[in-house]
Amino acid sequence: MSAPAAAPPVHVRGLVRHYGTRTALKGVDLSLGRGVTGLLGRNGAGKTTLLRCLATDLEASAGEVRLFGLDPERAAGRTEIRRRLGYLPQNPDFYPHFTVFGLLDYMAVLKELGSRRDRHDEVRRVLVRTDLYDRRHSRVRRLSGGMRQRLALAAALLGGPELLLLDEPTVGLDPEQRIRFRSLVSELAVHSTVVLSTHQIEDVAALCGRILCLDRGRVIFDGTPGDLVERARGRVWEGAGDPGDGCTSWRLADGRHRVLTPHGTDSPGGGFTAVEPSLEDAYLLYTGMDRGRG
Ligand SMILES: Nc1ncnc2c1ncn2[C@@H]1O[C@H](COP(=O)(O)OP(=O)(O)OP(=O)(O)O)[C@@H](O)[C@H]1O
Ligand SMILES: [Mg+2]
Repeated sequence: MSAPAAAPPVHVRGLVRHYGTRTALKGVDLSLGRGVTGLLGRNGAGKTTLLRCLATDLEASAGEVRLFGLDPERAAGRTEIRRRLGYLPQNPDFYPHFTVFGLLDYMAVLKELGSRRDRHDEVRRVLVRTDLYDRRHSRVRRLSGGMRQRLALAAALLGGPELLLLDEPTVGLDPEQRIRFRSLVSELAVHSTVVLSTHQIEDVAALCGRILCLDRGRVIFDGTPGDLVERARGRVWEGAGDPGDGCTSWRLADGRHRVLTPHGTDSPGGGFTAVEPSLEDAYLLYTGMDRGRG
């Protein structure tokens, strides 16, 4: 089954996904090309569900999903898509008795990665990229949490996928590994499409050229980090005194408060002045983590 020549890697229209009576995605539209897109939203917003639909792990209840122009609901399309994507699930669960090398080799077999020699070369390559080469003979059960997360990333990198789907990839990584991860992903994104969900605003600021905010199964923001920050302008304040109810605030080191005000409301009152919003302020406002919602 061949795809249209210039089809975008990800094209989704009106995607709906139900779990029983619960609707996790309520009509998502998106189209993605090369680069890194960050998927933001509070717990339960639908990030994992969307990534699972893109990873061909879940079928859409309604709407259209096309990956490289191919339809994941058709067997031939699905197989071709799976050859071309890498997926790091939110809670990766590996066979604990395998060695690190053995597990990746097994995954590489499932990915149809050529001869034994080519496969082993590819396994070594992803082990080096994720800084796990020295642990290649360790049993999976003996790895630390952060190492397991890197093993899951290594598995997703096998075969050099054109579409890389990463569900909270930096959970558990120490600062050094997080920096390594960022440079790896930004390098990959030159030639491929990367979608990652995260609650780490630093990852978004460092990596993502585009942000999608999900709120209760809908996309409520689609733009650049700069656009998101601009939307928060006039809603972030600092000053002394009581910011009152109805807005989110926190105490600063000098005893003053930083305040986020709901859309359409005025200053929190005398003593507060508008300040430059940060990406974190905008994130709180647009992921609905403030009380006023975006
Ligand atoms: N297997 C499932 N069965 C039933 N409901 C589910 C299932 N998976 C997710 N849900 C529900 O679907 C909604 C979206 O969940 P999802 O896991 O996609 O959110 P998320 O944005 O990834 O959240 P988190 O930040 O906590 O990972 C939630 O209301 C959740 O309870
Ligand atoms: Mg999730």
